[in-house]
Amino acid sequence: MGSNGKHTAERYAVVTGANKGIGLETVRQLASQGVTVVLTARNEKRGLEAISKLHESGLSNVVFHQLDVLDQASILNLAKFIQEKFGRLDILVNNAGASGVVVDEEGLRALNIDPTSWLSGKSVNLVQGVIKQTVEKAEQCLNTNYYGVKRLTEALLPLLQLSPAGARVVNVTSLRSELKRIPGEHIRKELGDIETLTEEKVDAILRKFRHDLEENALESNEWALMLPAYSISKATLNAYTRILAKRYPYMCINCVHPGFVKTDLNWNTGIMTVEEGATGPVMLALLPDGGPTGCYFDCTQVAEF
Ligand SMILES: NC(=O)c1ccc[n+]([C@@H]2O[C@H](COP(=O)([O-])OP(=O)(O)OC[C@H]3O[C@@H](n4cnc5c(N)ncnc54)[C@H](OP(=O)(O)O)[C@@H]3O)[C@@H](O)[C@H]2O)c1
Repeated sequence: MGSNGKHTAERYAVVTGANKGIGLETVRQLASQGVTVVLTARNEKRGLEAISKLHESGLSNVVFHQLDVLDQASILNLAKFIQEKFGRLDILVNNAGASGVVVDEEGLRALNIDPTSWLSGKSVNLVQGVIKQTVEKAEQCLNTNYYGVKRLTEALLPLLQLSPAGARVVNVTSLRSELKRIPGEHIRKELGDIETLTEEKVDAILRKFRHDLEENALESNEWALMLPAYSISKATLNAYTRILAKRYPYMCINCVHPGFVKTDLNWNTGIMTVEEGATGPVMLALLPDGGPTGCYFDCTQVAEF
């Protein structure tokens, strides 16, 4: 730490799902601030294309490594690469995400839904015809947004624990995760009680969700109906963030809704730029020592889980 309170030592970061969207912009902003960043992408060609654009713009402190968060071998390869190249990790941005639905994009665009009713979830009935929650997509979504983050974080924790100033972990969540959006009081209570939350409880909640989805019982069992799998994947991601923050109090482990950003994930219906969307994740990745932990941020502001 320098006398001006800023980190002077080299910092090493990993950003997942960084070939485009908010992830790519997060890499760009972190690298611009002097952090050495491992840009990861599941597809090597897309990742290398992204990195060459950053190199062309003069950012040489960015390296590529393949990472598919659904593939344990790929996760272990990345951990080995970081161990051998840097010997530790200071920042992990879990950004990769999947929407978990099948979408008729043209149909969605034709509905011309205004952002306010999209964000509030009021358009849930309107979109039923164009956004479909299938079991297969739900599995992929939960495995990416919840279990993928968990698997990767666990694999990198030994390296994060070596960060001298206490690592920063940023989990990119969504406002769909907010507990007030889940109709079921029992689900809200269980996910919201940090004193009794455990990973086993979170697993049980996800098993029940899968069961209810297969039984076509999401509504009767009071799950959020706007992007059901996506919503619960991010609500459980927030719960995991809090469990981890409690377990590693010397790290800053937070989750952040980046805003409603125009990217492929929301079929480009968003209204913010990726530059704006990366502001929250970057702020949390660069938190000063003693900064907040175990919190949920709506862009750059602390908000209610
Ligand atoms: N855009 C918004 O308004 C908004 C709002 C709330 C939260 N978020 C969150 O922000 C994060 C970034 O999304 P975005 O909006 O920037 O969307 P995006 O441009 O579609 O980016 C998503 C990224 O995740 C990657 N990805 C998907 N599955 C993966 C896997 N198994 N392994 C590794 N990477 C994988 C994608 O790779 P491919 O290119 O190979 O598919 C892509 O790079 C997500 O976690 C999302 O839930 C976005």
